[in-house]
Amino acid sequence: METKQESRISPRNGRRVILFPLPFQGHINPMLQLGSILYSKGFSITIIHTKFNSPNSCNYPHFDFHSISDGLTDPSAEDSTTILITLNANCMVPFRNCLAKLVSNTNNNSAQEDSVACLITDFLWQFTHVADEFKLPTIILQTHSVSGYLGIAAYPFLRDKGYVPIQAMVNNIKASSGMIWNTFEELEQAALTTLPEEYFGIPVFPIGPFHKYFPASSSSLLSQDQSSISWLDKQAPKSVIYVSFGSVAAINETEFLEIAWGLANSRVPFLWVVRPGLVDGVEWLEALPKGYLEMVDGRGYIVQWAPQQQVLAHPAVGGFLTHSGWNSTLESICEGVPMICQPCLADQMVNARYVSHVWRVGLHLEGKLEKKEIETAIRRVMVDAEGQEMRERITCLKKNVDACLRQGGSSHQALGRLVDHILSF
Ligand code: UDX
Repeated sequence: METKQESRISPRNGRRVILFPLPFQGHINPMLQLGSILYSKGFSITIIHTKFNSPNSCNYPHFDFHSISDGLTDPSAEDSTTILITLNANCMVPFRNCLAKLVSNTNNNSAQEDSVACLITDFLWQFTHVADEFKLPTIILQTHSVSGYLGIAAYPFLRDKGYVPIQAMVNNIKASSGMIWNTFEELEQAALTTLPEEYFGIPVFPIGPFHKYFPASSSSLLSQDQSSISWLDKQAPKSVIYVSFGSVAAINETEFLEIAWGLANSRVPFLWVVRPGLVDGVEWLEALPKGYLEMVDGRGYIVQWAPQQQVLAHPAVGGFLTHSGWNSTLESICEGVPMICQPCLADQMVNARYVSHVWRVGLHLEGKLEKKEIETAIRRVMVDAEGQEMRERITCLKKNVDACLRQGGSSHQALGRLVDHILSF
């Protein structure tokens, strides 16, 4: 299959691409996966990253890493929106200086150094058009689904009405030379045709799903508890509901307890990721009622962070209770695992709606988190005939994933166009 072929390394092409990920797990993963894809196509890769949430360079010995200061004093005390605003305010000067050094190194040592072809930057960075000063083309990496993004594309309208101040992001996109999407044509055909070249007048490259080009990703910021896999090894095929709310979403103690009871009452085996920080004001599992762990012992397994791609690919996993982050949604589709969606913020609402109403491969829990609804949804997906129908539909989507990455498939072709585009700079 093409994923294996794609991981073959092309000869070096003498060009370097600089990548600038946003320092959140859901953004670092796709950016580093993209780096590996472009490396396999012959490009040298440089990563500029903030000190906050810096990626582990040891996992990428073939990339160059450059750290910039971000001015964050106590990120653990801030929410993700505040961190994002602070980073956008603080990082422009250090980023510009770093870029200046990298570009001038290349110019001064042109015989030894690969020439820098372009910068690839996360769409939520608002100042990266400073690359224009160095005549460096910029390509934007969109880490959301196209459909989720279309919600944001309505922002200029909202901005004109004075509701949201997002001019900088829109300017950045308009000034770029292309947009890369971690999606594939067969999944988001309608949104991709609406989106478009007409909108920003720049080419789009839907080359996803990125993580299927290579074996499981090594860009996790937290250590992934491998005991999840040995626990799954002991469970029956498709019997386990996997539960995770990604790296950013937070819930309150009441919601946490509703989930705990929904899981317990469903009588379905579960693997639950309770990330430290998931529950406001609580360190880890202290909020669980006395005796809960003993009660679910054997049937429930709780970890702080899991090797999610491996978990979803495990034969014992039959469903995913998720916050509907785009990476999680794609990873679930790629393994044919139906979802129960409990979106928390941003693009997650649209992703959940697509899962339930467009692709019809899961359920969307709306309104307050309640144990009875969670229990019912788990049984509908894991036990009832309805769940089996969702499983059949998502298996078709999974087949499309395999096809789009094969020679001549839509993502394979889009990647070819992207490589030519970068080489033309
Ligand atoms: C955020 C937004 O929520 C999401 O909507 C946006 O599209 C990207 O940024 P996050 O909330 O972390 O991301 O969710 P998601 O996009 O699903 O990314 C989480 C990543 O962490 C996934 O790649 C997942 O495999 C990984 N993960 C999650 C683990 O490795 N282990 C875990 O236990 C949980």
